[in-house]
Amino acid sequence: MNADGFRTIVEPFRIHSVEPMRMLDREQRERRLVSAGYNLFALHSDDVLIDLLTDSGTGAMSSEQWAAIQRGNEAYAGAPSWFRFVSAVRELFPFRHVLPTHQGRAAEKILFSVVGGPGRVIPNNTHFDTTRANIEASGAEAVDLVIEEGTHPDSWHPFKGNMDCTELEKLLISRADDVPLVMVTVTNNSSGGQPVSMANLREVRQVCDRYGKPLFLDACRFAENAWFIKTREEGYADIGVADIVREMASYADGMTMSAKKDPLANIGGWLALNDDAIAERCRSLEILTEGFPTYGGLAGRDLDAIAVGLHEAVDEDYLRYRIASTAYLGNALLRLGVPVVVPFGGHAVFIDARAFLPHIPPLRYPGQALACALYLEGGVRSCEIGTVMFGRHPDGSEQPAPMDLVRLAIPRRTYTQSHIDYVTEVVERVAASADELAGMEMTYEPARLRHFTATFRPRMDRQGVSHARSEPDGLHSQR
Ligand code: F0G
Repeated sequence: MNADGFRTIVEPFRIHSVEPMRMLDREQRERRLVSAGYNLFALHSDDVLIDLLTDSGTGAMSSEQWAAIQRGNEAYAGAPSWFRFVSAVRELFPFRHVLPTHQGRAAEKILFSVVGGPGRVIPNNTHFDTTRANIEASGAEAVDLVIEEGTHPDSWHPFKGNMDCTELEKLLISRADDVPLVMVTVTNNSSGGQPVSMANLREVRQVCDRYGKPLFLDACRFAENAWFIKTREEGYADIGVADIVREMASYADGMTMSAKKDPLANIGGWLALNDDAIAERCRSLEILTEGFPTYGGLAGRDLDAIAVGLHEAVDEDYLRYRIASTAYLGNALLRLGVPVVVPFGGHAVFIDARAFLPHIPPLRYPGQALACALYLEGGVRSCEIGTVMFGRHPDGSEQPAPMDLVRLAIPRRTYTQSHIDYVTEVVERVAASADELAGMEMTYEPARLRHFTATFRPRMDRQGVSHARSEPDGLHSQR
């Protein structure tokens, strides 16, 4: 509900330029799916009607951001764009060293090349896939310590992204020397876009202090997290979002960031930290791989777009709309009886594919089957976050991920309410014939980050499927 009590979500912007979308028919989509090896990352995005693959870099920039692009200055070193960028970053995250990067994973790569390595272990509430992969690529171990409720899609805990501080302390008791830093991801993308409370951040800080460990935020969705603190945590209702963000930052010693999320830019990121010695080593690596430290892989105009985006990200009208419009989709699916992760996350609605397709065992990839079905049915592209993404372990074994989710990520300021109503209708149709899906088989698997490039085929057999039917069946029925 908005400030005047109206139910309708009024987008706090109007449309300034439009991007046409193309409607394919079902038969055309089926052909595209086959040639993409049933991997939605391999589609031509012109063949997608509503693209909910990610909220990363896919949002609409504002007229002020486009104006900032024109202001961009491309001096190699010390450009005015750099100074505008760094002061916007420090206004919210006052860390001593700020190293711009071309996106979040570049910041992770630099940080873990310096503090990771064999024998090291890095705890997080839940590592995002690139964070985990960068840690593992350095030879270190990535450990997820989210609270128990964070792994139960139907638990209504208001801060399901919280770190389990008892488990964190246990890890530090047994392996303190191996832990270079502790991370907390706000919001916790991989377990449903769930927020972390201020109380939890404070408690993690206390644990870190007891063992002399630095705390780093993976802060991609810091503004959405701050909005949840404001609206769900006692004592924060009257505090401005920017002040909440500054308090979150005050418990940390550094951060990694993707400017493609809450900073409302199409590209960019940064690594920020207080430790001079680590910063110096990171800066040397940055020069090697990203660029001079006042642009770090970005054009001056990108730095300017991020600077403006950071101000817009903490605007309360924007955040109220953002969180309400995500909940609008979540509530519509709940009303249809679709199992969704509750409470709804900030940037996405996550369908619990294991509950949606209870007859498909995790190693037949129910999330992948559902994501493909949503594309086939209505041209909606979503993303599996489950056993395909997280099922392969460094020791070579394959195990079911804790959850099999399908993420409907909502690009910022991009789709209207009728686009979302259409998505709801597509999910409703897939739900009506869900028992006809039989899961997927992987036909190619790369060595790392397999979900990006693996290929699949729909299972035609229903062996191992819990309530088997007599007729042969595939991903979808013949209509
Ligand atoms: N950390 C989190 C929590 C993320 O969600 C992402 C990216 C990254 C780090 C890496 O940032 O893409 O700029 O290199 N998430 C995107 C997603 C890709 O779809 O959730 P990046």
